[in-house]
Amino acid sequence: MFRGTRLELLSVAILPLGLGLALQGAPVATVESAPAATAALGDPSYSADIGPLFMDQCVSCHGEETAEAGLRLDSYAASMQGSEYGPVIEAGSPENSLLLDMIAAGEMPQEADPLDEDDVELVRDWIAAGAEDN
Ligand code: HEC
Repeated sequence: MFRGTRLELLSVAILPLGLGLALQGAPVATVESAPAATAALGDPSYSADIGPLFMDQCVSCHGEETAEAGLRLDSYAASMQGSEYGPVIEAGSPENSLLLDMIAAGEMPQEADPLDEDDVELVRDWIAAGAEDN
């Protein structure tokens, strides 16, 4: 009962620990808090949410000057084109989107703190809704 709130606070305050717990499949608590978080975020759009997030967190390594793995995230078209290995976003299918896997696992952004859960949810919702140029 009171565990849910506590875990949520923890994962915000100490994100790596929060992620660790979530990855170990610990709780019910994360599952319970997910729908509320999603509902509060509404429908993310590329121009208002996703583009600015990529600009802030990703483009230093995935932009015009440096494009690690051949991946650029500085425009919608480039993001959908993917890396030298292929697409990293599968429209409508978050579970098949490498980009989402990597941010959810904290593997990207490299050399920085993992994205907070709300940002990961934004990207997940945007991909699930069709990854549109909206
Ligand atoms: C400090 C540099 C750096 C930052 C910042 C960074 N990346 Fe990366 N990224 C890399 C490097 C280096 C690779 C290639 C090696 C690897 O896969 O670990 C990579 C690879 C990737 C790949 C895999 C491409 C493929 O097809 O194998 C994805 C997806 C990705 N990054 C997404 C992101 C996202 C999304 C962000 C922002 C939230 C981000 N990266 C931020 C350095 C960075």
